[in-house]
Amino acid sequence: MKFKTIEWKGDRVSILDQRRLPQEVQYLNCRDASTVAVAIRTMAIRGAPAIGVAAAMGIALAAKRSKFNQPGAFLKNLEKVCHEMKETRPTAVNLFWAVDRMKKILDQVYTHGVGETKERLVKEALQILEEDIEVNRKIGMVGKKLIKEGDGILTHCNAGALATGGYGTALGVIYAAWDEGKRFHVFVDETRPMLQGCRLTAWELVQEKIPATLITDNMAGVLMMKGKINLVLVGADRIARNGDTANKIGTYSLAVLSKWHGIPFYVAAPTSTLDLTLASGLDIPIEERDIREVTHFRGYPIAPKGVKAFNPAFDVTPHSLIHAIITEKGLIRKPFERNLKRIKT
Ligand code: MRU
Repeated sequence: MKFKTIEWKGDRVSILDQRRLPQEVQYLNCRDASTVAVAIRTMAIRGAPAIGVAAAMGIALAAKRSKFNQPGAFLKNLEKVCHEMKETRPTAVNLFWAVDRMKKILDQVYTHGVGETKERLVKEALQILEEDIEVNRKIGMVGKKLIKEGDGILTHCNAGALATGGYGTALGVIYAAWDEGKRFHVFVDETRPMLQGCRLTAWELVQEKIPATLITDNMAGVLMMKGKINLVLVGADRIARNGDTANKIGTYSLAVLSKWHGIPFYVAAPTSTLDLTLASGLDIPIEERDIREVTHFRGYPIAPKGVKAFNPAFDVTPHSLIHAIITEKGLIRKPFERNLKRIKT
């Protein structure tokens, strides 16, 4: 990849500001945890694994800057930071998973002391980043077999290097197949209202010189009807025990369309996206964002003043519409409940 989504710089966290892409490639220098939290909330950094990495680095930054020398006071202060991170966005479970990993290290402060705990927290955050990239590469290796020469692949939102520590999940599969020498065409849903497909996925694919065509979200059906799409590949923000999958709003509609046209619909996600504590997608908290994301375009009003709007950031695709889930531990087929349990350690 020609860019770094997020980087630990010792005294700060450098975040590629995704709100400015593709027009500008600018990095935010976050020097404290609250700035990292704001970057997550305002989607300067977004995508389930990426916000997990960001939250972990935010906690590591707070630990490094902490003036508290006593374990009790240090712990109390850092617990507040963990809470602040968990309050940023509710749907992607990777965020909570990463914060809980940091919390486990934090909880050992009485054993290791404040100084060592600071170092261990930084190490853990860097480990979460490294592991994520590694896991994405494995997802790519598993998933690339599903792509055939000449395929038309439809993807939604951005599940690429920008949405992760690096490489990507759904796009990671595409990169792995491409690197192997397979040639195919990617159709990119623009992904209203935040345009992650148009701004981010298209940007990644153009840089990698992978042939791609941008479409508006309402064009997917006609492409399927014309036989242009052989498979749909999307990422995930949270996968419940039965395989129901929360992902960017519009994913569900694509899954329904795929079923109608007999097109396989695949979800690519690391096992950190599995939430086996939830029985089904009904239990997944769905973030609702400011309606101005729908009524305005980059601050400019595009709807009549006073109109109501609805802006859920995610929807849930029922497991029955999902062909298989591509994870770093292999391709998970039905019955999801049994097979997901088996891979989640
Ligand atoms: O609101 P976003 O942009 O954070 O939503 C991101 C998605 O829905 C992605 O598809 C998902 O996080 C998978 S990223 C590998």
